[in-house]
Amino acid sequence: MQGYYYLLLFGFLGLCTNFSFGEYGDGPRYDSTAYTECKLYPEAPLYNGGILAKEVSKHPGTQVYSPAYVLRNLTKGAKYTFSCWVRIKGAGTARVMARLLTDNSTDKCVGTVSAQSGCWSFLKGGFVATESNSVLFLQDSQQRDIEISIASASLQPFTDEQWRMHQEDNIRSKRQRRVAVHISDAMGRRLQGAIVTIEQKSKAFPFGSAIAKTILGNQPYEDWFAERFNAAVFENELKWYATEPEPGKLNYSLPDQLLRLVRSRGIPTIRGHNIFWEDPVYTPSWVRNLSGNALLQAVNSRIQSLMSRYKGEFVHWDVSNEMLHFDFYESRLGPNATAYFFETAKRSDPWATLFMNDFNVVETCGDENSTVDVYVSRLRELMDGGYVMDGIGLEAHFTRPNVPLMRSILDKLATLGLPIWLTEVDISKTLDHETQATYLEEVLREGFSHPSINGIMLWTALHPNGCYQMCLTDNNLHNLPTGVVVDKLLKEWETKEVKGLTGDRGSFDFQAFLGEYKVIATFGAKTVESSLSVCQGDETLHMIIPI
Ligand SMILES: *[C@@H]1O[C@H](CO)[C@@H](O)[C@H](O)[C@H]1NC(C)=O
Ligand SMILES: *[C@@H]1O[C@H](CO)[C@@H](O)[C@H](O)[C@H]1NC(C)=O
Ligand SMILES: *[C@@H]1O[C@H](CO)[C@@H](O)[C@H](O)[C@H]1NC(C)=O
Ligand SMILES: *[C@@H]1O[C@H](CO)[C@@H](O)[C@H](O)[C@H]1NC(C)=O
Ligand SMILES: *[C@@H]1O[C@H](CO)[C@@H](O)[C@H](O)[C@H]1NC(C)=O
Ligand SMILES: *[C@@H]1O[C@H](CO)[C@@H](O)[C@H](O)[C@H]1NC(C)=O
Repeated sequence: MQGYYYLLLFGFLGLCTNFSFGEYGDGPRYDSTAYTECKLYPEAPLYNGGILAKEVSKHPGTQVYSPAYVLRNLTKGAKYTFSCWVRIKGAGTARVMARLLTDNSTDKCVGTVSAQSGCWSFLKGGFVATESNSVLFLQDSQQRDIEISIASASLQPFTDEQWRMHQEDNIRSKRQRRVAVHISDAMGRRLQGAIVTIEQKSKAFPFGSAIAKTILGNQPYEDWFAERFNAAVFENELKWYATEPEPGKLNYSLPDQLLRLVRSRGIPTIRGHNIFWEDPVYTPSWVRNLSGNALLQAVNSRIQSLMSRYKGEFVHWDVSNEMLHFDFYESRLGPNATAYFFETAKRSDPWATLFMNDFNVVETCGDENSTVDVYVSRLRELMDGGYVMDGIGLEAHFTRPNVPLMRSILDKLATLGLPIWLTEVDISKTLDHETQATYLEEVLREGFSHPSINGIMLWTALHPNGCYQMCLTDNNLHNLPTGVVVDKLLKEWETKEVKGLTGDRGSFDFQAFLGEYKVIATFGAKTVESSLSVCQGDETLHMIIPI
């Protein structure tokens, strides 16, 4: 490792530039700008280049032909966001990876871009510095000998406090709204000193978890779930192998029971997971045996049976699960099988949002099959083909999250303007409970505060013999550290009961998380109870209660 490090340093000596920097002040606001189209000219660097600014200004025209930066005096623990424009020569297209090499560890991916010759593509990524000296370099992922040009490079550090502040800003503007409750008498006169009590009845942001058949008949678990979550997804019970283990032997008994349970508890958001799964391992064994017309018939009857039974029941369908990694159906039915699935699903259940769903998109950038640009181009392909593709599912099965990378990937996905969900959040069971909890909190805060995330699902269906990767509680529903984190955030992301008096203008103001409210106003002997719906908006929401 050491040898490689020095070799790299040495090899790049002619091209590299050395950077040194000490402390930084308050720092700028986070810049969420991102591009996913290839441009004739690169845009200006974010943050004027940040701590790479000196270099950029030395090269007017912003073009720096250098595949590596030697970074000295990085602040350990600080979050760094990196971006640059990339163009290649010597190949039509290439997946270019930004890697960070430190003394101590193997190099890791901190950003990727699908680059082209003839135009500039935007790479955005980031990392948490673990050492003060590192080398950041760009490389073709297949390590071919192609020329990589970089322009408008930028590296901007943020402290944890600054990072948290960006999250809080976004939460205030996207998940909350200011509300002014005006109390007046029958003549329209403002009433000072009226007592206003506000109670949040429901939350607008869908936050839920997977459940499994283990919840059936387990009343304490059911209560525990319903007290916390407003969204649910069935872990395995809807999958083809579960509903049709043998050809023609359809059995929807478990999903039916789960659906009834969730409905009876008033949980509004239920994801349908999934119609097809491209991984042959999870394809029913009898389907794995089919090809050609027989397969097409099986596929048609699956989609027909599932969607007619549950039309209108599920808000989402994961139509083609993990298609960035596997291609069971496309390899047998042809390259437009996926488009066909989406089209048929749309026809069968026009009101459901149809999702692609995959792993290793926000979790890492080291998986070549599922880099953000690969995902974007598959989505574009479908959309350009005229198919309705309306949701981006990110499984979010993390080991150690790289939060700056996660944010920059979300920034890029957001350029498509589609709803994005974290669909299966958990932290690897290879880590101890405390570490899982710490990482889970990082991921959930990043997800909840990113303006493009529309909902979050945990992959934590309770199983007596252990959950998939991570449980929230033990079998007696006592919180594990991860459950403590979830309960803490659920509390933090709801409006505490608010009580106060109207001021001299007859109004009472408060900051509300989006959702449904009960508002009770009392003046003298009179009490009026109203409901209030707080939906997203940039402006203060005004409510008038005559009393
Ligand atoms: C790195 O930082 C240390 C302490 O902040 C400082 O003394 C040193 O001069 C810096 N090194 C360089 C090369 O700037
Ligand atoms: C290398 O990693 C080990 C273990 O993670 C750590 O104790 C050590 O301080 C690190 N060395 C440097 C130079 O950062
Ligand atoms: C359907 O599934 C349920 C639950 O697994 C099982 O109890 C039942 O026997 C099945 N029905 C048939 C006809 O196989
Ligand atoms: C697959 O097909 C072969 C040959 O027709 C048959 O012997 C086998 O039982 C099939 N396997 C399954 C799981 O249906
Ligand atoms: C990437 O996809 C190809 C084709 O589907 C597959 O053969 C390969 O195993 C995948 N790699 C990973 C890391 O999933
Ligand atoms: C799939 O592709 C074939 C040939 O390219 C075309 O005839 C067919 O209409 C396509 N099907 C769909 C659903 O787009």
